[in-house]
Amino acid sequence: VTASPGSSIGRADATAALQPVALRDKLARFADHWAPRVVAELNDYQVKLVKLQGDFVWHRHDDTDEMFLVIEGEMEIAFRDATVRLREGDLFVVPRGREHITRAKRECHALIIEPRGVANTGDAGGRLTAPQDAWV
Ligand code: NI
Repeated sequence: VTASPGSSIGRADATAALQPVALRDKLARFADHWAPRVVAELNDYQVKLVKLQGDFVWHRHDDTDEMFLVIEGEMEIAFRDATVRLREGDLFVVPRGREHITRAKRECHALIIEPRGVANTGDAGGRLTAPQDAWV
């Protein structure tokens, strides 16, 4: 089953049924880039998977930090004055209010933790803005 953005399959599974979230299985269920899928929630936060390839858009999140953990591949998080390179197994927290862009030369799979309701494109908006609360 490939979940389309906006679908909400899976929400009840992990927590209510006391099942682990199999990240590799979840990653196999979607292919589009820059479209995060929620796999779990904790308190007011969501854990998401995303596939990145190419350049995202410059943006910032005025109200929240944003955590990235690379599961497979390599990515960059660039700021106006620095670039952070992340390899598989690396984690980085983008500070709130700091303008940034994510990039990956080749497809990269990452896990994101951020508060529910955060737009992936932050203040920038535009065509790469992903639907909220799309579960996989
Ligand atoms: Ni961001």
